[in-house]
Amino acid sequence: MRENISSVLICVFLFFNISTCTATTAAADWWEDSSLYQIYPRSWKDSDGDGIGDLNGITEKLEYLKEIGITATWLSPIFKSPMSDFGYDISNFYEVDPIFGSLDDFDKLIKKAKKIGIKIILDFVPNHSSDECEWFQKSVERKDGYDDFYVWENGLDDPNNPGKKLPPSNWVSIFGGKMWTWNDKRQQFYLHQFQVKQPDLNYKNTKVREEMIKVLKFWLDRGVDGFRIDAVPHIFEKVNADGTYPDEPLSGSTSDPEKYEYLDHIYTKDQYETVELLYEWRSYLNKYQEENGGETRILLAEAYSPINVIDQYFGNGTHFGAHLPFNFNLMGLRGSSNARDLETSIKNWMDVMWNKHKTANWVLGNHDNNRIAYNFGKEKVDLVNVIITALPGATVTYYGEEIGMSNVETQCTEISCDSRDPERTPFQWTDGKSAGFSSSSKTWLPISDDYKKVNVKVQRGADRSTLNIFKELQKLKRSPAYKAFKDNGGWSYGAINDQVFQVIRSSPQDEYRILVNFGDKLEEIGPLSNSIEDNENIMEYFLLTSHSPHRRGEKVNLKSIYMMPFEAVVLKRIIKK
Ligand code: GLC
Ligand code: MG
Repeated sequence: MRENISSVLICVFLFFNISTCTATTAAADWWEDSSLYQIYPRSWKDSDGDGIGDLNGITEKLEYLKEIGITATWLSPIFKSPMSDFGYDISNFYEVDPIFGSLDDFDKLIKKAKKIGIKIILDFVPNHSSDECEWFQKSVERKDGYDDFYVWENGLDDPNNPGKKLPPSNWVSIFGGKMWTWNDKRQQFYLHQFQVKQPDLNYKNTKVREEMIKVLKFWLDRGVDGFRIDAVPHIFEKVNADGTYPDEPLSGSTSDPEKYEYLDHIYTKDQYETVELLYEWRSYLNKYQEENGGETRILLAEAYSPINVIDQYFGNGTHFGAHLPFNFNLMGLRGSSNARDLETSIKNWMDVMWNKHKTANWVLGNHDNNRIAYNFGKEKVDLVNVIITALPGATVTYYGEEIGMSNVETQCTEISCDSRDPERTPFQWTDGKSAGFSSSSKTWLPISDDYKKVNVKVQRGADRSTLNIFKELQKLKRSPAYKAFKDNGGWSYGAINDQVFQVIRSSPQDEYRILVNFGDKLEEIGPLSNSIEDNENIMEYFLLTSHSPHRRGEKVNLKSIYMMPFEAVVLKRIIKK
């Protein structure tokens, strides 16, 4: 375990305000600079022709992750579920949903993953279960041991309707509407931060905490390498000393009381008990490793929270929580964002999380957010992939971003009517039937129209395709300069002007400069080095994207460089100083 390793960080300011840091510590643990990849199992590969992806499909295609340089993949929920929120509403935490396969299929997946060296991370959804979960049904009936498994409350007397009850507080759920729903049978309200069908578990109850540790153990024993913890900020709610629930103040940002944004969530988000709960889960994982050996099992945390809270979810110096609390900062950028916006966004993380904890990770998409091509524009997908790989730390790639898949305009179907459907469409493997995703022509969400061009098969064979660039980037991530980010390595990042962004990575063995032009105009930059030794100003083009007019191996003088619109390049130093 690495928590006690001390590190020294030296930062200096160079040209153009670019901050340069050299860190010396022991070598990084596997997850610290890993390439993580999120699979949305419904949409990755269908093995049985029902038009919905499944575990055997993932097993069948696992080598692909190896081919593109992935360290570990996290799977969105595969557990038994009525699928009201596509698996984020779990009815049995210990079973695989038949849509995805069986426990046997899961064991086969793990076996193959271990054989070829891909780590498997599961989604852990602790905040709530499905209302169809046996625990909830027992809780409704106040069965022994389950009475307090969920958050139940009598409600307030309605002054206008004698005998009727009003919800205990004004809280609004994340998907809209009241956070409290009346249950006729139990004659009480229950709390749900998300859907009505997703009742919140009661973490003030030690039995719930024990049960969830059992869930972690169950999957760890089956060989998983960690968990992505769902909806972390929403686990605890504030209760007054007298057992009542305080109303949240209005935010002023909308006048619609049905919308989540209507209130300022000071009592239902990021409560301190949640931080402590993460520390509890982390110590359980540490203990598990001590007892069972093997490599570090990790926790990823989904928390759309301010950086000072993310800081606590990571740890406070004596206690540790999530190894990688997701860094969603860059997802706030858009096509109109420039190099300076990017710098500000990166600094927001680095100034706190790197400076305090020497940790960084970069997330550019997931099943809840628009795809990169949609947010930034198709021409910027490669730029974004280049940047996130160039930065020190771990990267998280949502399936399909490595080939530049875009949002797909979807219409409600019998199976799904979710505003997040556009970023959840089937993965595009080939230019054949159903993009090689399924043998069926009916898939649960439509295949994107662009699949003939945007697919793995075609891009494998095309020089400078998004896929091939992605693969090259993953190789770079294993080079001495990239690997050395915590160990005698140097790196710096910053905007050179409004449009061009630069990252420098170096080690005693090698040195790279990553240059990205976010703008749609030709940019002249330089000098990027002012050495009087001409040799020291010469580098060569090493990795090129489709907007670059250069060839690999071509020399370039750092005194003056032209960057084409949307060009992204990696330069390599040929002669070490
Ligand atoms: C997380 C998931 C999202 C889900 C919600 C409720 O935010 O990423 O997809 O709807 O939690 O579980
Ligand atoms: Mg299937």
